[in-house]
Amino acid sequence: MSQEITLSVIKADVGGWVGHSAMHPELERAAREVLSEGKQRGILVDYHVTHCGDDLELIMTHTRGVEHRDVHELAWRAFERATEAARDLKLYGAGQDLLSDAFSGNVRGMGPGVAEMTFVERKSETIVIFLADKTSPGAWNLPLFRMFADPFNTAGLVISPTLHHGFRFEVHDVRENKRIILDCPEEMYDLLIFIGAPSRYNIKAVYSRATGEIAAVSSTDRLSLIAGRYVGKDDPVCIVRCQSQFPAVGEVLEPFAFPHVVEGWMRGSHHGPLMPVSQREARPSRFDGPPRVIALGFQLAEGRLIGPVDLFDDPSFDLARRQANLIAGYLRRHGPFEPHRLPMEEMEYTTLPDVMSRLADRMEPLDGRQPLTQPAPQPEMDVD
Ligand code: F6R
Ligand code: MG
Ligand code: MG
Repeated sequence: MSQEITLSVIKADVGGWVGHSAMHPELERAAREVLSEGKQRGILVDYHVTHCGDDLELIMTHTRGVEHRDVHELAWRAFERATEAARDLKLYGAGQDLLSDAFSGNVRGMGPGVAEMTFVERKSETIVIFLADKTSPGAWNLPLFRMFADPFNTAGLVISPTLHHGFRFEVHDVRENKRIILDCPEEMYDLLIFIGAPSRYNIKAVYSRATGEIAAVSSTDRLSLIAGRYVGKDDPVCIVRCQSQFPAVGEVLEPFAFPHVVEGWMRGSHHGPLMPVSQREARPSRFDGPPRVIALGFQLAEGRLIGPVDLFDDPSFDLARRQANLIAGYLRRHGPFEPHRLPMEEMEYTTLPDVMSRLADRMEPLDGRQPLTQPAPQPEMDVD
């Protein structure tokens, strides 16, 4: 049997250039130095350092399995080295996603987002890695559902004998820290009642029911829940295996032709359309957005990353980008009103507790009171 390979995608925002919009090349250079040492020391088989908006993305292959201390420590050191570069240049929010001063065995729970999977490399292993900025992990629910459960998106579910067996979804309740496994197509309606609420329920992984193999995995880390305070949206990543017993590359990209509305955007407190763009265009500017997603395609060759191909750098996504701009403009006109602004409990920034406590003695119980029929008393004014 061929050897198992692990693909780890670990990301963090350790400083923005300019504001929260883009990545300075010095940060990538610093991270590359650390991963190159890791490759020389035999921890990694291969790596690719890249970015989406202001997020530093480490794509790594190795044979040590998921959540391995050596790989996570290497990633942590890469982020620390990049943070030093960010501090040196006084970039914005240097080190913001590193919630701890010291590494303690695993980056999970320490700020960075993580998506990892282990598998036996197929004869030809096609992978698409989605990287998003200015949104949260729930953004993957709709596209993952459409890739792996919607026959109007994925023709293979109807006409390919392997895909026809359906897929198994692992859903996490990120608030209660629980999970549930559901099989499609039979349990599709049960699945949708959960994943249609993406701020709480996230698709963590998808498995082939024909072969049992892992098909997709996403980062479900929620920095606000980890830190107990706002430290930036989670700007998630997602790995999807493609072709043969999995949906084709075109079926995996197709859901993004519809720029669905996600949480994130300005101050992580708004709804906006997820715009599929080339990496060059993943530089959110309008109202710090709208949220972006890029798709990097790789072939694996004994763990070597052959790529990336920038898959949304394609005019067939022009219409989605145009629609996203129209939706962005429409939502923006709601200003501070929902549904552009997130519901109160989902906002990453809020002044509500302060305003409430300042105005507490003016918040009167309504019972038995009549609406005001007289003009409210005016403060006395000096008219002379
Ligand atoms: C959202 C994001 C930005 C910032 C915004 C305010 O994920 O990164 O929209 O929230 O630019 O940032 P601060 O409060 O750091 O000035
Ligand atoms: Mg940022
Ligand atoms: Mg970001």
